[in-house]
Amino acid sequence: MKKIYITTPIYYVNDKPHIGHAYTTIAADVLARHYRHQKADVFFLTGTDEHGAKIAESAAKAGLEPKDFADEKCEEFALAWKNLNISYDYFVRTTDDRHAAGVQRFMQKLHDVGALYQDTYSGLYCVGCERFLTDKELVDGKCPDHKTAPKKIHEKNYFFKLQDYLPTLKDLVESDSLLIHPAERKQEVLGLFKQQLPDFSVSREKVKWGIPLPFDKKQNAYVWVEALQNYITSVGYGDNAEEYAKWWPADVHIMAKDIIKFHAIYWPAMLLAAGEALPKRIFAHGFFTIDGQKMSKTIGNVIDPNDLVARYGSDGARYLLLSQFPFGQDGDVKADKFDQKFNSDLANGLGNLVSRTATLLEKNQIEVPEYSPIDLNIVQAAAEAIESLHYDIALKYAAELIAQANVYIDREAPWKIPATDKPKLSEVLVTTTQYIRTIAEILHPFMPDTSRSITAQFAGPTVVKGAALFPRLDLK
Ligand code: MSP
Repeated sequence: MKKIYITTPIYYVNDKPHIGHAYTTIAADVLARHYRHQKADVFFLTGTDEHGAKIAESAAKAGLEPKDFADEKCEEFALAWKNLNISYDYFVRTTDDRHAAGVQRFMQKLHDVGALYQDTYSGLYCVGCERFLTDKELVDGKCPDHKTAPKKIHEKNYFFKLQDYLPTLKDLVESDSLLIHPAERKQEVLGLFKQQLPDFSVSREKVKWGIPLPFDKKQNAYVWVEALQNYITSVGYGDNAEEYAKWWPADVHIMAKDIIKFHAIYWPAMLLAAGEALPKRIFAHGFFTIDGQKMSKTIGNVIDPNDLVARYGSDGARYLLLSQFPFGQDGDVKADKFDQKFNSDLANGLGNLVSRTATLLEKNQIEVPEYSPIDLNIVQAAAEAIESLHYDIALKYAAELIAQANVYIDREAPWKIPATDKPKLSEVLVTTTQYIRTIAEILHPFMPDTSRSITAQFAGPTVVKGAALFPRLDLK
């Protein structure tokens, strides 16, 4: 049986879950659901990143111990994912004992193979980014993303000999042995190799909220270095050889382009050093704005995914987020058009088609035969599109079928066919039924509840009409 291991980034618990986190997590869920449907053995991992200076500071501000603070926030992520129907197989927290033990093993390994060295480091650290910034990156002396002045840090750290692994890594990226998608992201990563990529520090002396290095307990693992290791500690690295052999390497790490350098350079370089296999594919999608503006607390346009679920349902929220612009690219989320899009695509487009058809079948007591796709080529093309994460293409196929089916039903107008002409009525409604079932099959990973409801209503031979899929919103 084919195995598929899919990951999302693990999200920082200083933030509440917002639609940026939701976007990536839904995207990963689509892939996981698709492969499960194809009868693959799937392991879908998500979780939370809970150590480091940023979390410690946020906890202090909230008057809580970091772990208590993380416990609360972690629940918020778990709840949002439940509301959005995210089918993860494992939720990792970097404060889990298992993760800490795995990290210590991995750090020891890096130490043992001679990939680390000690040095004193002076630099400008942005706590918001949890990384050192270069002078060039600053705008008016401040971090351009967090608008705060970085802290001057001078301390003893362990460094990773990145230089030793760069040539090999570059070859692997160039030759697509390590796939970096979409194509422009691969180019971006290849561009990074042309710049100077200094060795990076893997530990922090003064950050107390973290995982101690086994060979020097005065130092904690640097939060990014430790967080990346969640991808292996969650599948048994060092504590379950069988599990680890089954799942690692990951088939795809999904994230946005903001953290591609960590995933496409630092992480594979450390794996090379430790003698572990590299992930097969890194997919870094674009970054979105909301109604043309960057999502930010200051602007006050941060959207809580739970609010979307409350208004549009779980499938509505999933659909509205993924259908905004082609997955992979940068784009704008037109939140001020969510209501209209919900009504036009879901209530009027799909919902109406399903309810009209079910009503007529029920009323005229017409039986339907087994499912047979209205167009097998489209079903296969949609599956391929999903596997290459071209979600917009798969959604477009579904939208085309919805449009075709609506044109067909309007043209044939079965509500005008006399009940006595049962063969004709049956022909039209069975055709529409096969359209609907095909649409449900394509949409299944995107809108699991909707798909299930359609399949149940049209299970046959008799059709039993269900509740409205997408009750139309009253727009004033
Ligand atoms: N904790 C690190 C990741 C460690 S992974 C080993 C981190 N966390 S984060 O909470 O900041 O999440 C960043 C991720 O959230 C992005 O890579 C992306 O997946 C998602 N997004 C956050 N805002 C987004 C947009 N505006 N647009 C697209 N994705 C968004 O970085």
